[in-house]
Amino acid sequence: MATDAPSANVLILAPVGRDAGACAKLVEQAGFSSRVCCSVPDLIAQLDFRADVVLIAEEALYGKALDPLEAWVAAQPPWSDLPFIVLTNHNDSARFTRFRGDLVRKLRNIAFLERPMQAISLKAAVLAAERGRARQYEARAYLETQQHAAEELERLVAQRTAALEKANDLLRAESQQRERAQAALLQTQKLETMGQLVGGVAHDFNNLLMAVIGNLDLLAKRIGADAANRRLLEGAMEGARRGATLTQRLLAFARRQELQSRPTDVVALLEDMRGLISRSLGPMIEVKVIASRATPAVTVDPNQLEMALLNLAVNARDAMPAGGVLTIALDHQLVSATDGLDLAPGAYVRLSLQDTGEGMDSVTLARAVEPFFSTKGIGKGTGLGLSMVHGLADQSGGAFRLESQLGVGTKAELWLPVAGRAAETLAQAHAPRAVTSSATILLVDDDALIAGSTVALLEDLGHHVVEAHSGKEALAIVEEGLSPDLVITDHAMPGMTGVDLALTLRSRDPQLPILLATGYAELHGELPIELPRLAKPYTQEQLSLEIARLLPDRVPIGPQAV
Ligand SMILES: Nc1ncnc2c1ncn2[C@@H]1O[C@H](COP(=O)(O)OP(=O)(O)OP(=O)(O)O)[C@@H](O)[C@H]1O
Ligand SMILES: [Mg+2]
Repeated sequence: MATDAPSANVLILAPVGRDAGACAKLVEQAGFSSRVCCSVPDLIAQLDFRADVVLIAEEALYGKALDPLEAWVAAQPPWSDLPFIVLTNHNDSARFTRFRGDLVRKLRNIAFLERPMQAISLKAAVLAAERGRARQYEARAYLETQQHAAEELERLVAQRTAALEKANDLLRAESQQRERAQAALLQTQKLETMGQLVGGVAHDFNNLLMAVIGNLDLLAKRIGADAANRRLLEGAMEGARRGATLTQRLLAFARRQELQSRPTDVVALLEDMRGLISRSLGPMIEVKVIASRATPAVTVDPNQLEMALLNLAVNARDAMPAGGVLTIALDHQLVSATDGLDLAPGAYVRLSLQDTGEGMDSVTLARAVEPFFSTKGIGKGTGLGLSMVHGLADQSGGAFRLESQLGVGTKAELWLPVAGRAAETLAQAHAPRAVTSSATILLVDDDALIAGSTVALLEDLGHHVVEAHSGKEALAIVEEGLSPDLVITDHAMPGMTGVDLALTLRSRDPQLPILLATGYAELHGELPIELPRLAKPYTQEQLSLEIARLLPDRVPIGPQAV
């Protein structure tokens, strides 16, 4: 029976007589290939190659160790049940009967053919066994197809799962980023609202303090030498000064502080302040400074930066009651649009203060920058230190960042924009210390209280003062023929701002010295003209220095002693 399929392979184990040869002949005549084995171990070795039917003469197994053969049969894969045809002798003794029973159990798929047998019986038995085996191969192929399909499915599922996980990760990252951005926005909005509220109140207080300080300044000259009276006055002055410091901090937080920003060498500033910082921190705290001389200048108000630095250093001291290390570092950072930082792209100098103190928990850290938030107990902290630093950074075009870990320490970072030009030397930056001779000054302020006290301060300095309460009134006075040596004007006034007034006056007289006295930064962005500024509240001394700077060619005279 020849077919296209490879012919089945029949293993023959019949070591006695000529059985093996006769069987092989018959098998081949039936169209199968045959292989004759010489022993049970040889048969087991051949089984691992292709075996479709096994033909065995029973005497080849009788009395032999059959455990390995039994083990091979038991270890077949699920689809396989190899057919055995056992040729028996005409021996029905009890021993043989038991032996055959054992074979049925051990070889499982077994058929017996009794000898002498007819050729057709052997052929039929082999054919039947081969057909059974062919079915097993079909089952194997089917199982393999199923297995492949299952593997393919598993691969696809794994692929999809991975894609899903990736999408999930992306989604999670995006939502985390959104949450962070929302939290940051909320915090910014909260601080913005607080800033507006605080800024408005502080601005009004600042104006009131201007009047208080101005009048106290003048009163100090008239009160005479009586020690008790002087003490009272100094008490009042000290209170007013502290009030002014407080309102300055509030204005700083509200980003409405009048900043005198200029290119500043932070390395030199740090060097100048090092002694003061070390003294403020005490001997238990080691101060380390890491700064490269090549750090570029930044645009900032140096006085305010000193204040900010001191505030941060004092916070670090308070967080290290048992001592520790404060590391102050300066480095140069480039921010690109893709950095995801809340900073405009550009070059910055980062000033960081890292302490080894008690740190903050997340609730404290989230609120630390809020104005009036303090954990230092009543009367110990105003809660305005960090608010001021935050406001300064923001108003200077930089940023303030705070990181903290409870029990480990806190890192405060002040990012400030690199200045377009080098820092001025101290000599250039500071005003000449001189007082001028009598000048005619036009003073413009819509607040009568402030106008009154400033007029008194100016007159006390020996100047001739003409007072106006609006830009319009000031222009009218000039048109009527007054030719002042100097104009001092408030900025935020109804009708016409100080800057508008200055523009009009300068169009008539381009050389006219004009001083803008403002309580806070009402002036956003670039001004149409460059004007010197004086921050309210100011003392008589500051006023006098500013005038001296603007009218330097005058012969110095002192304030009028009364
Ligand atoms: N370096 C720091 N380590 C641990 N906590 C800090 C640090 N800096 C600030 N804080 C926490 O933030 C709060 C607010 O600080 P902020 O400087 O604004 O006010 P303050 O220090 O309490 O008061 P003031 O600055 O007027 O002395 C502090 O009370 C403290 O709880
Ligand atoms: Mg503080």
